[in-house]
Amino acid sequence: MENILRGKDYIETIDFTNEEIDLFLETAADLKYKFKNGIPHKLLPDKTIFLFFFDKSTRTRNSFEAGITQLGGHGHFIEASTSQVAHGESPKDMGIILSSYGHGIAIRHDLVPGEGNAYMREVARHADVPVINMQCDVDHPCQTLADLMTMREIFGKDLRGRKIAVSWAYAPSYAKPMSVPQGLITLMTRFGMEVTLAHPPEYKLMDKSLEIARQNIEKNGGKFEIVDNMQDAFENADIVYPKSWGIESLFHKPEEALEISKKYKNWICDEELMKLTKKDSIYMHCLPADRGHEVTDAVIDGPHSVVYQEAENRLHTCKSIMGLTM
Ligand code: CP
Repeated sequence: MENILRGKDYIETIDFTNEEIDLFLETAADLKYKFKNGIPHKLLPDKTIFLFFFDKSTRTRNSFEAGITQLGGHGHFIEASTSQVAHGESPKDMGIILSSYGHGIAIRHDLVPGEGNAYMREVARHADVPVINMQCDVDHPCQTLADLMTMREIFGKDLRGRKIAVSWAYAPSYAKPMSVPQGLITLMTRFGMEVTLAHPPEYKLMDKSLEIARQNIEKNGGKFEIVDNMQDAFENADIVYPKSWGIESLFHKPEEALEISKKYKNWICDEELMKLTKKDSIYMHCLPADRGHEVTDAVIDGPHSVVYQEAENRLHTCKSIMGLTM
């Protein structure tokens, strides 16, 4: 295996070149083949990764735990609320001490804008092992790498000219982080895609992510536009990725945020909307999805949906990230 990424933190996809992203994906494809064919691939024998969660998870926790086991190592789960971090232990101490016990530190800290990315970069500043972002307030680079892998499996490596609709959708369950749409617009604009972002006025993404997306278009071609309705975004799309996210200034005020979101209950991905897309378009969602709110069962369980392939690719991509960096 190539070793150019060994020791590097994996915090945002913008920290990596397109060639490095390609290497992660080529390695993920190789690991997927080996996993499916029962070929051993213990790239990290006896290595330990600490999996440090400030928030809940199904896919991320389990893909990392299963993935590190399959690579020959061990994943050690830490819940922030039952660690001394809950009593104020510093990111510096976490970085130094966990580095001395193992070989990698992965962190999910995604619910408070302005906190998670800064926290993990501070851990990384003091850690002498790689720090992996399992989702922060800015980016979800493990998810978007799996998303890119899924798009390439379906449409081929050359995604130039493919239209992706990244749309807000209504969800009453909780104020979901902004990191998935931000990760999508900053990554997919690097490959010549036509990215249309749709959201109601209150749901603007962070300025820095919007700026990066615009700069990517200038450098790489493609298109980036923002519209205020799902219909325009879905028109002639190859890929639709409708999901909910919260309002940047209201993550501390969930009741107020929920009231605002109720104005937009009609932002649901249904079969009528899917008719606007290309015939062979795909429906994606990072999951969990609020069924009946973000998307109808007919769409998420229907012929356009690739959500289970996408979720499966979380395993292969996180193994690639660990295998190449740790
Ligand atoms: N998509 C995703 O990150 O899923 P989890 O929140 O279940 O980890």
